[in-house]
Amino acid sequence: MSIATSKSPTQSAGPGAQWPPGWHTMAHGISVGRYIDPAFQQLEYERLWSRVWQVAARVDEIPAVNDYTTYEIGDQSVLLVRVDEGTVKAYHNVCPHRGTALGEGAGTFQGGRIICPFHGWRWDLSGRNEYVLERQEFRDGKLCDSDVALKELKSVVFAGFVFINFDRDPVPFDEFIAPIRAFLEDLAIGEMRHYWWKSIPIPSNWKVAQEAFFETYHVPATHPQLEKPAAAVIYGSDRPTDFPFSHRHVAYDAFAYGHGRFYAGEKTPMAGNVQAQGGDPVEAMAARLKLLADGMDAQVLQGDIDVLLTLRGKPIPTGSSLGAEYIKALYARAAGEQRPMPKATPEILGMWGGEIFIFPNVMILPHAGNAMIYRVRPAGNDPDRCTFEIFSTRSYPTAVKPPRATLQRVTDLDDPEQVLEIPRQDLGNIPRMQKGLHSRAMRQTWLASHHEKMILNMHQEMDRYLQA
Ligand code: FES
Ligand SMILES: [Fe+2]
Repeated sequence: MSIATSKSPTQSAGPGAQWPPGWHTMAHGISVGRYIDPAFQQLEYERLWSRVWQVAARVDEIPAVNDYTTYEIGDQSVLLVRVDEGTVKAYHNVCPHRGTALGEGAGTFQGGRIICPFHGWRWDLSGRNEYVLERQEFRDGKLCDSDVALKELKSVVFAGFVFINFDRDPVPFDEFIAPIRAFLEDLAIGEMRHYWWKSIPIPSNWKVAQEAFFETYHVPATHPQLEKPAAAVIYGSDRPTDFPFSHRHVAYDAFAYGHGRFYAGEKTPMAGNVQAQGGDPVEAMAARLKLLADGMDAQVLQGDIDVLLTLRGKPIPTGSSLGAEYIKALYARAAGEQRPMPKATPEILGMWGGEIFIFPNVMILPHAGNAMIYRVRPAGNDPDRCTFEIFSTRSYPTAVKPPRATLQRVTDLDDPEQVLEIPRQDLGNIPRMQKGLHSRAMRQTWLASHHEKMILNMHQEMDRYLQA
């Protein structure tokens, strides 16, 4: 399960070798071997995770100087340390003496001293060795500073994330992030801080779990409460040939470097597209937002609904809309609290409720000063297992010190106390998909050209790493 670049690839792949038929990315579908073959997962470790920029942490895991956290991928562990207010460093999490991991989980290096618990070798936060007991005993007394320094990885702090790369000569981060940089900046993702963070073990391939969040095509069947008219067609007794499917208007973009996004643009409720169906539009919009607030406790929070309800009974000025008035009220509240908000441009407002995907494994679902973030990783050598994390984040008034991010580990995917309704509906399908992908009747998936465009783009970008 090594992700070291120096390890040779598996026999069955690589330049000049034959690419197995079960590992193909095709315009109309994905071969199932990519989701179930342990050799494919091994190749991902060796060629993708070892070279790609990846999110190792949110900055609010290490808010204060001396704080550290760890990031695990495959058999590699990385230590992330807050060196000063503006500097985070990433080290291979290993003592150069006999290999002890220097950090476990998260914590604080008291006094800025990193001390190995085995024999007490010590480093400062910049990775420089400060102490070796009986130093003259090593290497005939000629131990160099570089022999005992911590080994640093390339890292970049951007949008509130700490990105790392195991490759010593990767594609420059700025080039990698360029296609989505402006969206992440304008959505103020860098201002979002910890609200809650959960980690959920899922019995599926990491890509199966991830791709369940790449489209809105699943909404009527998986979340019938969110799209009642289309759900009525799916689950009802009528069999019309066409659907009143409101997510038909969702736009999808596939960007270079594997990134993507989907968004409703002018069709968002924020632009006033509220289907009141005869009732009061404020109540209808509040009811819809409440499904999200209660169903996820992320993206939309109860406080946002309270703002909306202040519009009850107020006339909408000519030329405006309920959505526009709601936006105004949200920004007025945020200004009063001195709380950062996304840029209020039509493009950015049109992305609320949509998603930005950072290749290879992070999805951001932005909203009104809140964002839900998913990160998915393979777990060990088993392609049928992964770790799925949800970070619910929000902006805080400048006067409030946000809490340090702490992880809650979910033990039961089906427990409504641990996993709220909407992610539970999503995650509930995932083990069934993984099971189905092992069926002898299943060679490949079929991909919708519009709604499932981001899946294809992700696999094509993966192949650039895997086949290089
Ligand atoms: S293993 Fe770390 S000091 Fe010996
Ligand atoms: Fe969903």
